Amino acid sequence: MSSFEWNKIIASVLTAMIVAMVAGILSTQIVRPRHLEKDAYTPPGAEAGAAAPTAAAATAPAGPDPIDALMAKADPAKGQQVAKVCLQCHTFDKGGANKIGPNLFDVTEENIASAPGYQFSQALSADKGDKWDVDKLNKWLFNPQNFAKGTKMSFPGLPKAQDRADVVAYLQSLK
Ligand code: HEC
Repeated sequence: MSSFEWNKIIASVLTAMIVAMVAGILSTQIVRPRHLEKDAYTPPGAEAGAAAPTAAAATAPAGPDPIDALMAKADPAKGQQVAKVCLQCHTFDKGGANKIGPNLFDVTEENIASAPGYQFSQALSADKGDKWDVDKLNKWLFNPQNFAKGTKMSFPGLPKAQDRADVVAYLQSLK
């Protein structure tokens, strides 16, 4: 083979390598992974400023702050606002459908895990004999998994005591 032929072969190999390299560089430039500046979903109470009580709760596994004292001034209308995060899984109106979770109308007067036509987890069914009172709802809404380990309510909980009090007031107003 003449050296001219060799030159052609080497040139084409080099060209192929350069093309591959440039393509690699270009593709990382063109398709730049963009990270969200903020979380797409911030659970209520997880905003900056609410970090302190959450951290405090984490170091004190005893449970949530009691909300009995807050109940006197709890606001059902605010609770309804907070409860918007529940709507993906729950309905609140009378006779509303069971969705991922059961309908919650009149739940504060009902025994735990007794909404008709809904298949509760074994975890929550274990508390069937008890009623949903303020104290139990407080614990449940603070951290469902702590209240009934293995529950299928996959909701991180409401870290702010005031939010829980308002939501409980909202639930109590549904009857
Ligand atoms: C991701 C879905 C989801 C979200 C969000 C959610 N829940 Fe639930 N919830 C469930 C499921 C599922 C159950 C049934 C739990 C079980 O059987 O273990 C449930 C059960 C409950 C119960 C018990 C009902 C009964 O009849 O005993 C209450 C009360 C409740 N949820 C309140 C709330 C409130 C209030 C919110 C919002 C602050 C909320 N949930 C957000 C899925 C959800």
